[in-house]
Order: sequence, then C-alpha cells, then structure tokens
Amino acid sequence: MMIWVNGELHDADDARVSVLDHGLTVGDGVFETVKTVQGRPFALTRHLERLTRSARGLGLPDPDHDEIRRAARTVTDATPLPLGRLRITYTGGISPLGSDRGDNAPGLVVALGEVSRRPDSTAVITVPWTRNERSAVAGLKTTSYAENVVALARAHGQGASEALFANTVGQLCEGTGSNVFVVLDGEIHTPPLASGCLAGITRALAVEWTGARETELSPEVLEHAEEIFLTSTTRDVQAVHRVDARELPGAPGPVTAKAMRVFDERAGDDLDP
Ligand SMILES: Cc1ncc(COP(=O)(O)O)c(C=O)c1O
Repeated sequence: MMIWVNGELHDADDARVSVLDHGLTVGDGVFETVKTVQGRPFALTRHLERLTRSARGLGLPDPDHDEIRRAARTVTDATPLPLGRLRITYTGGISPLGSDRGDNAPGLVVALGEVSRRPDSTAVITVPWTRNERSAVAGLKTTSYAENVVALARAHGQGASEALFANTVGQLCEGTGSNVFVVLDGEIHTPPLASGCLAGITRALAVEWTGARETELSPEVLEHAEEIFLTSTTRDVQAVHRVDARELPGAPGPVTAKAMRVFDERAGDDLDP
C-alpha cells in the first residue's frame, strides 16, 4: 500500500509524520473518508468542500484541492482495489507541545485501505454520552475522535456496529461515524444539522434523493419507528435490524429498501453528484 505524505508517495512501512505534528499531540486536524469504486472516488467534490469547511472551522489554511486530487489519483493508481476507503488527513503540522499551533505548514496524508461491502442491515446501540451541539467544533470532521472510539468499542462489545448519541438537550443526533434516519407513518426523517451532527455527504444525498425531512427527534423515537437506517460513506444506506433490545424483524423494511435502491442507482449514475 502506498501513502501520500506531504507531497511524496511512500510505501506504507516508511510513511512517516513528525511526532510533533499537532494532529498527533492534540488532535488538531480534520479529515475525510471517501469511498473509491474501482479506483474512482465517489463524491470527491463534496468531500473536498467539507474538508475546507472543517479546516476553516479550526482556523487551518484552506487545503489545496488540486494537490489532494493529485494525491488521490496517485494512491488509487498505485493500489488498484475494487472497493476502497480513501482517507485524507490534514493537520496543524509541526507545533509546540501544547494547544498553541506552530507556524509550520499543515500536514497532508492521503492513504487508501481496502473495504468489503457492508451487510444490508446491522445492529446499533444507544449510549449515555452526548454530542455537544454548541461545541466550538460541532459539525466539523476533526481528528479528535476519541469519544467515537469509546462509544464504538461499547457497541462492538454488545454485538452492534454503531452507537447512537443524543445531544445535550436530549435530541437524537448521530452515530460515531454515521447519520441516522427513521421512518414514521411511512415518511423518512433525520435530525437537522442544528442537532450537532456532522453534515454527512451520504445524508445530504439521501435527503435529496428520497425527500427525507429534517426533523427534531427524541431518542425515544427509536423505540417505535417503523424502520431505522444509517447513512455513511462506508455504509451507503444501511438498515438497522436491532436497536438496543428492540428487534426490527424484516429489516430492511420497504421504505429503507427503496432508499437503498434509489441510492445505489443514483450513485451509480454519477460518481461526483
Ligand atoms: C460523526 C460522523 N457522523 C456522520 C458521518 C457520515 O458522513 P458521510 O456520509 O459523509 O460519511 C461520519 C462520517 O464518517 C461521521 O464521522
């Protein structure tokens, strides 16, 4: 596997960043995960736009989209994969040991990993920890993901693949790496961005392509929704067949199955929607 590090392609074994990189010392960085299909990135323009929004939110200089596109092409050409996960990491660069950022150039790493297609349905849990919709970094895709690591480990410990958070005012928010949708009276709903969730690329496409509505939802909705599904770059649209102790037999239900179909068709028609 070849990895792009600050302008050069390296073998994975010798790809290195400084131990003083602010991304490493304090999690001062932003990232994107982009799906690649037969070596071609999906929705790269939207991902690059979000990377810029996240970088601006942290006060990092705008990332160079042309350089990232070149890096993406270089790593995908170096390792042909049927289905991949392109990881773009952009950090504060070499900095002092505290929270102050240095004056050095930002760091850029572009790496590719292989993934297998996710199952059509999965189990999720809810966790007692909150997303802070008023955080300085709410809605930014930063590399400070330790809360997600903890919550996801709990999910795995309970035989689930995702953990869902509410926010500080008790509204349903999102998963550790996915957005959540529910079906109520046959209509699809997802929490609004004001809930503090990430503006998922897959979420936005699912809203556009299915007509899902953005609605403030209480976590209790998970106890009675007719159907539940997740969206993310690596899941596309994925049905939920269990949430905590509640089974949803027959998942994907009809509304989710249609959303999955529509997503596959539209995504297949246009690699950069
Ligand atoms: C916290 C969080 N929410 C939602 C998502 C889903 O976003 P996307 O559809 O852009 O992958 C992600 C992405 O991995 C995420 O990290």
